[in-house]
Amino acid sequence: MKKRFIIANWKSNKTRKEVIDWVDMVEKNLPNDASREIIVCPSTIYLQYIKEEAVARNIPIRIGAQDISAFSEGPYTGDVNGKQLTECVAYVLIGHSERRKYYHEDDQTLNAKIRNAQENNIIPIYCVSSEQEIIPQGVEIAAYEPIEAIGTGNPDTPENANTIAKRLKQKNNLKSVLYGGSVTSANVGLFTSQEHIDGALVGGASLDAKQFLLLVKNA
Ligand code: PGA
Repeated sequence: MKKRFIIANWKSNKTRKEVIDWVDMVEKNLPNDASREIIVCPSTIYLQYIKEEAVARNIPIRIGAQDISAFSEGPYTGDVNGKQLTECVAYVLIGHSERRKYYHEDDQTLNAKIRNAQENNIIPIYCVSSEQEIIPQGVEIAAYEPIEAIGTGNPDTPENANTIAKRLKQKNNLKSVLYGGSVTSANVGLFTSQEHIDGALVGGASLDAKQFLLLVKNA
């Protein structure tokens, strides 16, 4: 059976109290299932808390960062670099369409981020919104997220997402391709059951712990 990745991308959401409640609920209800890799990507300030709780309480989740500096350590105000992140995270999202749009991240910046992740043994999950986008060398996991599907309630069709995932794999030598964009507990199985889709990158539907647990169950 193929390994499925379910990624909770919280974006810029949640207070500390909401993070604690989410972790408590997930701890009690998330089954330990080796065929699924559940990755939680909180805001940077909660990375350490979630990592420590996951280890201490044996919660079957891995931790991912939503971003990584394009630079090494040094005079880059506001940045969190790979050497720092590697203490908390196993994964990092790179190339999300919101980073490209609001922070003008271009291919050169994204390449530098990929290099920094790899040099620090953090696995990048590289997001693209179409099969035409360039995926940097050495990336093994990508997420196909059509822009018009993100946060709109209008996901791509599972069949089209599967076709794109297949082409992305052929073109870029990827091991896994996830689908993202308006994934919910109701539609996740339609995507993860597709031959070339290896999981889901979930924004809005990952914020509520109960909804997320149901989504994991249905994936
Ligand atoms: P959404 O976001 O699930 O809220 O559409 C997905 C994403 O941006 O990763």
